[in-house]
Parts: sequence; C-alpha cells; structure tokens
Amino acid sequence: MSLLIYMQHGKHKGGLVSEEDAKVSVFDHGLLYGDGVFEGIRAYAGKVFKLQEHIDRLYNSAKAIRLDIPMTKKEMTAAVRDTVKANKLTDCYIRLIVTRGKGPMGLDPGKCVDPCVVIIATTIAMYPEEQYEKGLEIITATTLRNHPAALDPRIKSLNYLNNILAKIEADNAGTFEAIMLNTDGLVAECTGDNIFLIIEGALCTPPGTAGVLKGVTRSVVMELARKQKIEVKEVCLSRYDVYSAEECFLTGTGAEIIPVVKVDGRIIGDGKPGPITRKLLKEFRKLTKSGK
Ligand SMILES: Cc1ncc(COP(=O)(O)O)c(C=O)c1O
Repeated sequence: MSLLIYMQHGKHKGGLVSEEDAKVSVFDHGLLYGDGVFEGIRAYAGKVFKLQEHIDRLYNSAKAIRLDIPMTKKEMTAAVRDTVKANKLTDCYIRLIVTRGKGPMGLDPGKCVDPCVVIIATTIAMYPEEQYEKGLEIITATTLRNHPAALDPRIKSLNYLNNILAKIEADNAGTFEAIMLNTDGLVAECTGDNIFLIIEGALCTPPGTAGVLKGVTRSVVMELARKQKIEVKEVCLSRYDVYSAEECFLTGTGAEIIPVVKVDGRIIGDGKPGPITRKLLKEFRKLTKSGK
C-alpha cells in the first residue's frame, strides 16, 4: 500500500503527496552530509504519544545545528497529526525529518536556503513479545559514543554513523543492541535506546552530560518510577555497575521498556526480567493505552 507523505520545501506551504511523488534532491545536504535532524515518534490507538516532547526535542536539535525549521511548532504538530490520519493509521511509527535542504557541493550550510521537512507515518516493527518475557542479551561495543564536544548525543542528528558502527558490533555478536561507553569509559547509552539499572532498589541512568540522547521514553520512565516511590538517580555508571546491577533494561520509542538479562556474558540479577522492570513496563503500557 502506498503511503501519503508530508513534504515541505522551505516556507512554501507543504502538504501530503503519494510515496512515489515524495522526492528529495540528490543535492540535499541531508543526503550529502547527514546535515539535518529527526524524530522517531509513536501513535497508540490513533493518539500520538508525547508529541509535544518530541517536537520540542526536534526544535532544540535544529537550534543546536543552527537549522531554522520553516514551520512553527503548532504547524508541525498539526502536520504530524494530519499525516497519521490521512494514512488511516492507529498504531504506527512516525518519522519526522528536517534536512538542511538543497545546496551546491561543499559543506556550507549557508548556501542551502530551503530546509526540507518530511513526515512519514508507517507501521511499526517491534521486538518480538518473547524478548520482553525472556529479556535480551547485549554486549558492550568497542565503538565509543560521540564526545559531546564533537557532536553532542543530545542532538538527534541525521548523522547516525557512530551508532551504526556499534550496531554492526551488536549484529556480529548476534545481539540486538550494544552498550556504548563515553570517552571516559563510562556507560552512555545503547545504539538506539537509553539504559537503566536497578542498584540497591534505586533506578539509575546516566545523565545527559554523560553523552546520551535524552530519550522521551527515558523521561516518562523516570516519572513513572517516581510515582511508584522508586528513587531515581541520574549518575555516572561503569561496566562494573552494569554487571553487578539487580536489574537492567533499555528504553526507546520503538522498544518501550525492554529487559536485559545478560551483558558481555555476565548474567544480570537472576537472569530473568526483574520485578521493577516488569512493574515499569506494565505502568508504561497502561499509560500508552490511556491516551495521555
Ligand atoms: C541513540 C538513542 N538513544 C536513545 C533513544 C531513545 O529515545 P526515545 O525514547 O526518545 O525514543 C534513541 C531513539 O530515538 C536513540 O536513537
């Protein structure tokens, strides 16, 4: 089935076009240099989950790379909702992309005058349910996460090669995900997910300054934990903390909350998804079903 894609070039009013007609120039700096930003969002039962938070992150990412998105946040919000509706999708994945636009060869972003906005709403490929029941095995990649002074991982840019190199390591090891350390050798995040540990009953995750994307799911999970009276700590974590944690799980728009039971051959906790992880997953799914 052909999808309807929202496209806008610069300030010229955009709209929905068929997948076949949704075209981006080969001179777009998003393609030539990975110059742009994006978001991955989900809709549950027709309601876009945490849309405001994703839009805010998109505009912050764009500001950080000095890219002026040619639409207001209000227009962008409406365009996302319209795209989901037009495709008659209820449970779906939404990819929001803003590229620097078409320009001559050469890095100069100043020569690209019309940033390009693309919104895709499509079906979602999830982890098999079995993985939520059994938990994942993951590894630590040798590829380090980008140093924040080089390319801050808080910017959700179109340049994902750093994560792709670590993902190749995960693939080679036969795992779905890999932990990426920062340049201090401390845990940052995974290739497409944030990481959480339960240590002495507290929920621990590395802070934004450790070089991680501040995941929308990450924030939701921290809030859910506080509501459950679980202590939440944003702290620097090492591989030792991972190996000796009581529980470990990953969060992301696609994965939601997925338990991890083995890291680098070490069994985490008792090798089964732990009680806090299971409770938070249950609460998270309740929230997505509630339409809030
Ligand atoms: C590198 C990275 N970390 C974490 C996440 C999780 O973020 P979110 O919960 O906003 O999907 C993602 C997914 O977008 C990601 O690409």
